[in-house]
Amino acid sequence: MKPTGKYVTTSVAGENVKAFVPNSLPPKISKKELSGLEHQLQEAELALTKLQIAGQMIPSIDWFIYAFIRKEALLSSEIEGTQATLTDIFSYEHLNQSGDSAIEDIEEVANYVNAINYAFKELEKPRGLPLSIRLLNQCHLRLMQGVRGANKQPGEIRTSQNWIGGSRPGTATFVPPPPLNVQSLLGEMEAWWHKEDALPPLIRIAASHVQFETIHPYLDGNGRIGRMLITLLLAQWDLLDNPLLYLSHYLKQNQTEYYSRLGAVRLEGNWSGWFEFFLNGVSSMASDAADTASALHQQVNKDRKMLHASSKATVSAIQLFEKLPENPIISMPLVVRLLDVTKPTAIKAIGVLENCHIIEEVGKSRRDKRYRYTKYMETLQ
Ligand SMILES: Nc1ncnc2c1ncn2[C@@H]1O[C@H](COP(=O)(O)OP(=O)(O)OP(=O)(O)O)[C@@H](O)[C@H]1O
Ligand SMILES: [Mg+2]
Repeated sequence: MKPTGKYVTTSVAGENVKAFVPNSLPPKISKKELSGLEHQLQEAELALTKLQIAGQMIPSIDWFIYAFIRKEALLSSEIEGTQATLTDIFSYEHLNQSGDSAIEDIEEVANYVNAINYAFKELEKPRGLPLSIRLLNQCHLRLMQGVRGANKQPGEIRTSQNWIGGSRPGTATFVPPPPLNVQSLLGEMEAWWHKEDALPPLIRIAASHVQFETIHPYLDGNGRIGRMLITLLLAQWDLLDNPLLYLSHYLKQNQTEYYSRLGAVRLEGNWSGWFEFFLNGVSSMASDAADTASALHQQVNKDRKMLHASSKATVSAIQLFEKLPENPIISMPLVVRLLDVTKPTAIKAIGVLENCHIIEEVGKSRRDKRYRYTKYMETLQ
């Protein structure tokens, strides 16, 4: 098999290196190879349909998506080496407390949430940005906010040569295309997204992810934006209405294979190996997501029944319970705000849920006690 691009020699800091310029999409794959993937393709599509149905069966999809996006943000940022916990993310967002994780770690995850929410809103707006490089740049801008991103040219396509692995381009595992080629490569991919193509959409999404990672258009965050692109394309091509499928967990668990499959596309033209790997990931992550969806739904139903049956239940406690899925970490001041009640009422409502073993205290911060809807958080993790 042949490489899916050509090498050009560029000079970086006085050193000559061979940078890889990928061919433009669509990927060249034979009918025979494609029909060899028929089974995996059907499995992946079936799993997505099941996830779609699981999503529709949940009465309030919003809190569900809310939790899923945060989980994905966490996993996606973990690949990059960020260490924050889901508890800390919720604490940060609602209580302005950082908990135990480093604040930069939490910020990075919060940025990811912000970026993906922004993209979905744009795609839904009648006059919002379409799926485009401009949209991805805007996502990148949001992703790179804060201390760590500041020197990574937030929202901008790189204008210098980068490399993957190794301390300098000469020793790199892979050298992406020279900056001069990047804009046109991205432009060609964007045009292809909006063109008719006989290839199945999942194959197109898989190919787009590789192409994006090969172009490596940003100084940093290419992995996270490239994974976000998968989610956005799934929505764009109506494979999944809601942002419920994320591959980060799969790509992280299989990181060595993931990297070597990307390499095999570039160097050996092995598209079908990548497609198979990708489709298996879609199947397994879609099934997991559907299971988590129904487990969360059941947990909330069970606890609601228990609460309603309890002689201790008050109106405020029941109202507070209904807020928990979007606020699984709470504190007294937050409850005051959420329910618009007095401090004593908030304290009482918290007490009822604590007595019913729905929430538990999770360590004091300098200011207020924090409580967590633990079973819910555990189901999500
Ligand atoms: N050794 C490798 N071989 C092939 N591709 C690689 C290799 N290392 C990294 N990559 C690709 O580059 C991406 C990382 O690029 P970058 O650091 O710009 O993104 P990130 O979002 O900061 O990181 P991450 O993907 O690790 O969260 C990976 O997700 C992968 O797609
Ligand atoms: Mg990085």
